[in-house]
Amino acid sequence: MFGTALLLFLAGRAAVPPAVPGRLEVSGLRVEYLTDPLGIDVPRPRLSWRIASDARNTMQTAYQLQVGLAPASVERGSGLLWDSGRIMSDASVFVDYAGPPLESRTRYYWRVRVWDSNGRVSRWSPMASWETGFFRAADWVARWIGPAPSGGDSLPSPSPVLRRAFRVNGPIRSARAYVTSLGLYELYLNGQRVGDQLFTPGWTSYRHRLQYQTFDVTELLRAGANAVGATLGDGWYRGYLGFFGQRNLYGRRLALLLQLEIRYQDGRTERVVSDGDWKTTTGPILTSDIYRGEIYDARQDHPGWAAPAYDDHAWAPVAVLEPPSAILVASESPPVRRVRELHPVSIRQLPSGETLFDLGQNFTGWTRLVVRGASGMTVTLRYAEVLDKSGNLYTANLRGASQTDRYTLKGNGAEQYEPHFTFHGFRYVAVAGLPQPADTSTITGIAVSSDLPQTGLFETSDSLLNRLQRNIVWGERSNFLDVPTDCPQRDERLGWTGDAQVFSRTAAFNMDVAGFFAKWLADLAADQDTSGSVPWVIPNLFSDSVHFGGTAGWSDASVIIPWTMYQVYGDRGLLERQYPSMRAWVDYARRRAGSELIWRPGWQFGDWLALHSDDPSYPGATTGTDLIATAFLAHSTDLVARAAVVLGKADEASRYAVLFHAVRDAFNREFVSGAGRVGENTQTAYALAIAFDLLPDSIVPAAADRLAQDVRARGAHLTTGFLGTPVLLHTLSGTGHVPVAFDLLTQRSYPSWLYPITRGATTMWERWDGIRPDSSFEDPGMNSFNHYAFGAVGDWMYRNIGGIDLDPAAPGYKKSRIAPRAGAGLTSARASLETPYGTLATAWKIENGRFVLDATIPVNTTAALTLWDSRVDRVQEGGRSLSGGGGIRDVQQRGKDVVVVVGSGQYHFSAPTPP
Ligand code: BGC
Repeated sequence: MFGTALLLFLAGRAAVPPAVPGRLEVSGLRVEYLTDPLGIDVPRPRLSWRIASDARNTMQTAYQLQVGLAPASVERGSGLLWDSGRIMSDASVFVDYAGPPLESRTRYYWRVRVWDSNGRVSRWSPMASWETGFFRAADWVARWIGPAPSGGDSLPSPSPVLRRAFRVNGPIRSARAYVTSLGLYELYLNGQRVGDQLFTPGWTSYRHRLQYQTFDVTELLRAGANAVGATLGDGWYRGYLGFFGQRNLYGRRLALLLQLEIRYQDGRTERVVSDGDWKTTTGPILTSDIYRGEIYDARQDHPGWAAPAYDDHAWAPVAVLEPPSAILVASESPPVRRVRELHPVSIRQLPSGETLFDLGQNFTGWTRLVVRGASGMTVTLRYAEVLDKSGNLYTANLRGASQTDRYTLKGNGAEQYEPHFTFHGFRYVAVAGLPQPADTSTITGIAVSSDLPQTGLFETSDSLLNRLQRNIVWGERSNFLDVPTDCPQRDERLGWTGDAQVFSRTAAFNMDVAGFFAKWLADLAADQDTSGSVPWVIPNLFSDSVHFGGTAGWSDASVIIPWTMYQVYGDRGLLERQYPSMRAWVDYARRRAGSELIWRPGWQFGDWLALHSDDPSYPGATTGTDLIATAFLAHSTDLVARAAVVLGKADEASRYAVLFHAVRDAFNREFVSGAGRVGENTQTAYALAIAFDLLPDSIVPAAADRLAQDVRARGAHLTTGFLGTPVLLHTLSGTGHVPVAFDLLTQRSYPSWLYPITRGATTMWERWDGIRPDSSFEDPGMNSFNHYAFGAVGDWMYRNIGGIDLDPAAPGYKKSRIAPRAGAGLTSARASLETPYGTLATAWKIENGRFVLDATIPVNTTAALTLWDSRVDRVQEGGRSLSGGGGIRDVQQRGKDVVVVVGSGQYHFSAPTPP
């Protein structure tokens, strides 16, 4: 025993490379989109790592990957499954595993080391791993089970609970649970909740794809008697979903599929699966619905029901169901979890007798109620985003979503309650029926969201802009709940494609959304019509016979988001996977445009929620839907052409490039005058035409001047809607109108980004005037206070104020552009982004007449820094005048600006503040 350990120790030491001068380290190992994932089903997963170096200008020149079935063999570097050998390459992101084919339910250990441009070799990285789920449908031997059919299946009904006792016959080496359901599930082993994931198995295109989760349950099992149990909820599968009051969209019967696989230390394996031996009954959840909330009667609980000793003889046998037609796929996105707790900032009594808790922040989730009282008393919790003028909950904007939870007490001392299969969009909770006076421990806000790592930070010397940034992040946290939703409160909460499209780039600054969007885009492709048309919402709610889709700016999510993910993460594999879907959409839209190449007919959302001329105090901002649809056709065609170049499809690249130019020509003929007027002379018309590169170069300055002129004429106010807003500031700053862009951004009066903040907004509003200047509410039929679309301005703030941008020619921030701008009286700003290569950061301030800029550039990347309006001989780095060396690769005077190309490391620039 001891001898083996000693041998391993010596062998391990021998494999460590000799010490190198300076620090060169590899860490942050990732497989596909996750760290040490469990249960992935990608046959050739892609591996990524990050490098740290204490020397500037460090590039990776080579890497070596080792993969094995046991940590010890990888540490020894022998008995490996795959050793890449030394590969001369600077690739450190999404590197293909190229070893032997992977097996189902197997854990692979891996490590990597790198060589750098300074001639150093790193030590081996810490060990990382991935574990496969099931590659073949035949890996599933469990049966689908659920309660026997009943007449109530189509109506709100109590959540079923299911259980089975089993024995563990010896010491366990490892155990895994592979689980999914029709409806939502919560899994328990020996009375304990398995994992911390919420809303499993997630929402996908249920007719085509159903996710399963893999849990390591080794620690939850014990020798002898065990029990497994599950509670099922209606969720998206058969609850109310969509604004027509429908339910049972995907089916009527809830069901569970579970395969528990035990490996004993002596090598035996055993399975406990869902099958006809399980028992079922109903429990304390009387109804639970995403829109309508939960009714819970704690007296109906079965104490110990998921523990082995429970006597289930009175429960009914389960029914075994036919499997659904969807294929089972492993989750690829981070799961939904509880991500924050919020405490009441005020508590007061309402005239209604309810106690009102203000959690100080609009968000998505629920509350934890702590209560003590007599058995049978009921506490009712109603949730809302805002209060009306008299201080009561304003719920008219929730439409058909009642957002109410009811808890009936068991009556045995302190009771804690959180609902299960519902979520609410709210800041305020009105509670009725509290047995004793409330305090701050009565209610705790629980924010839930897809648990996406925060990647971005943006802060300035202006507190309103900082609040805007926080509101954008809360909008993202509130609406990235397994799918990107429009809003979390009313009877909608759907994966609206247009909203996701406009926000995707901003989203990717704030959080790591690579896996989140990869999952959703797989659903988009699955739900795409055979004609190529893309539904309005993904997952699609509407049956195949009623096709709500094929709309410009919305369906273009199919092209714009994969392209954006490729740009920000360098995810070429995703681009390849989505390419057929991207192309199919463009082919469809092109057919809609007919021989003239102007897309006129059919329903369009247009520049949704732009300022319309029906407001007499604020006239005229409607952009023609033909202009918008044709502009998006051109833009998506352009992106498909570029994607084809990346994927090496030369013929298609030139075909779509030719089409792009033809649509562009048609656009100019139809909508552009020689004097630079575009369409209806709206801000959106100019912004789209310029941002999508639809105008001849000679006309751009005149068109941009007209845009700037319109903004000025309106006293620095915008008129744009969902489609024009995201490109408005980019268009202005990209055409020499930076001060106009700053004036718009920092405008406080309606309509503007900061106006809602002056009205106390803590999230982004759906409409510019959700609460009007006269304090009245907009149309309750559509007035969400948590809609991220207008938050798409975040990407302008990161790229222009923070000055962090990518070089489209080297995606994933392999090359970045650093070009921060000061304006609107800002005296400092800082921004940072966790890029695939590491932290890219800027911090600038204006001090003693100098513009001082600190920049951090990740290893294995380079950056081109622009100092505006300066001269090479006036710029200093690290207190010295600019010359080559020390990481500075190139210095150029480009017109009025100085451009410095640097390698990795930290830099400290300063130059006289531009006039
Ligand atoms: C949603 C939007 C969506 C729109 C389509 C609304 O009801 O909330 O955000 O994009 O419909 O026009």
